[in-house]
Amino acid sequence: MTARRSFGSDNQAGAHEAVLRMMARVNEGDAVAYGGDPWTQRACAELQALFGARGGVLLVLTGTAANVLGISLLLRPHEGVICPASAHLNVDECGAPERILGSKLITVPAPDGKLTPALIASRLGDRGDVHRVQPRVVAISQVTEYGTCYTLAELRALGEFCRSEGLRLYADGARLANAAAWLGCSLADIAAPMDVLSFGGTKNGAVGVEAVVVMAEDLAASAPFQRKQQMQLTSKMRYLAAQFLGLLEDQFWLRNATRANQMAGRLADGLRGVPGVELWQKVESNAVFASLPPAHIERLQREWDFYLWDEPARVVRWMTAFDTTEAQVDEFVSAVQETARDT
Ligand SMILES: Cc1ncc(COP(=O)(O)O)c(C=O)c1O
Repeated sequence: MTARRSFGSDNQAGAHEAVLRMMARVNEGDAVAYGGDPWTQRACAELQALFGARGGVLLVLTGTAANVLGISLLLRPHEGVICPASAHLNVDECGAPERILGSKLITVPAPDGKLTPALIASRLGDRGDVHRVQPRVVAISQVTEYGTCYTLAELRALGEFCRSEGLRLYADGARLANAAAWLGCSLADIAAPMDVLSFGGTKNGAVGVEAVVVMAEDLAASAPFQRKQQMQLTSKMRYLAAQFLGLLEDQFWLRNATRANQMAGRLADGLRGVPGVELWQKVESNAVFASLPPAHIERLQREWDFYLWDEPARVVRWMTAFDTTEAQVDEFVSAVQETARDT
């Protein structure tokens, strides 16, 4: 029997060995602080090339910080952010965007976690009214909070719509690697319609690092100052850079994401036809959302770690990570099957 693993979150996985190796490698002697070291220069240059980012790349410590910094580059004080109601930004960042940006989040219900031009247009009615916050940024997540992925055509349509409406487009890319793996495209393809986006390392096998990728050249000058103001200019930046260098080596970022996605696919396949279990969203990344009877959830949670996502809807979230194995997935599928049979 294999070690029982958590299906709670890709945040619960450990770090990939290439990341740890690279952290050890940069741990030699002194290095210029605050990102002036050669590893940070190299990591940022490599990321910039991968994305085709004309405004540069800045490393930060958390996904919340990446979202707040990325969006702050795009907003003036009277402007607001349109985002899906389910966005991490809106639900799970303790009001950091509202507090640190000082801006209103203008939310839109989106059943699959995705915005469309029509959903965005539904929030543009108050433009020009001095009493109302002025929508300026559209913030999407790729992959979404529900594990779904925008297609490249959908992203292009959003980009064109935003440009035609004078809006700017931001993407929370905490799981961007999973999206690239799912779509079979380059990071530059996903990033092309964006003004700014984040690129997550943490959920992909890093210890804790995210990149803010500035696509638009006009935003480059102020970005380093805003990162400092927002307390994300860490002095020993080389250790953050090392994590991305580890993930970039041999395309581990893509291999890790591909594996995590494949394990979620295997899990979803194993669940098809299990009585009482229904997939709640399409499985397009490393998350499986399913609804099942409360008694089944309760029994499974006695042995297994995962989140009850939406209690009234009886929806749970099962997540895989870069190091999830076939045997672990199969063991969990057997537990779900057994529960369905015996409960
Ligand atoms: C989609 C998404 N964005 C942002 C974050 C924020 O990351 P952190 O917890 O590092 O602030 C998370 C974390 O789970 C996330 O799932």
